[in-house]
Amino acid sequence: MSMQNSPQFNLPVQHIVLRFPDNQPYQLRSLDASFPNTAAARQDLIAASNEPFLYDRIFRERLKGKPYDEERAAYFLGWGPEGWKNNAWFVFVVLNPEGRIVATIDIKSNQLNGAEIGYWCSEQASGIMTNTVLALCDIAREAGFRHLYARIAPDNARSIGVITRSKFTPAGTEIRNGRNLLRFNKIL
Ligand SMILES: CC(C)(COP(=O)(O)OP(=O)(O)OC[C@H]1O[C@@H](n2cnc3c(N)ncnc32)[C@H](O)[C@@H]1OP(=O)(O)O)[C@@H](O)C(=O)NCCC(=O)NCCS
Repeated sequence: MSMQNSPQFNLPVQHIVLRFPDNQPYQLRSLDASFPNTAAARQDLIAASNEPFLYDRIFRERLKGKPYDEERAAYFLGWGPEGWKNNAWFVFVVLNPEGRIVATIDIKSNQLNGAEIGYWCSEQASGIMTNTVLALCDIAREAGFRHLYARIAPDNARSIGVITRSKFTPAGTEIRNGRNLLRFNKIL
């Protein structure tokens, strides 16, 4: 009996995601080598990542308080395709109806029996994230993943809301870099 042991995606992955509550069509898309690395894409990443709420949650510590800049955006637009090329990590962007990047979501490894996901979205696209996580779960299942998980700071109520609406279940706490994180699991 042969058992698939690495994910299989057909690139590019493109999936319509409806924004809550008005059902505007956004697009979840793999950030693979076919995604255009344009000045507009870098600008979108810079604008969203420096929004205060998002910056505090994701980047302040990592960037030691420095702004998310052009170099960082260019790095991200190269890091995505590298993951797809090596079938090792899987980064997606969410595009609004005008084709601008407003959110990102990733699967951080190729471990079919348990891979971590992470995400952020711009304030201007609030209402897109739950449906994006649900779409990602479908895409991941079709690629062969059987289990995904997320780790969230206990005070991140909005992210806990997203993961709960997406039918992940609480699975205790973990310590990472000396901090307590809540773990949520989903069997696909
Ligand atoms: C966490 C984060 C992605 C959440 O974004 P969000 O816009 O609040 O999430 P959603 O799009 O799912 O929800 C927005 C609203 O729409 C509602 N909604 C969205 N999809 C829905 C659905 N399918 N059914 C019902 N309600 C829905 C939610 O209830 C929520 O309403 P509320 O603001 O009244 O609570 C965003 O705050 C963020 O990027 N934060 C910074 C980065 C971060 O913390 N990332 C996670 C690290 S673990």
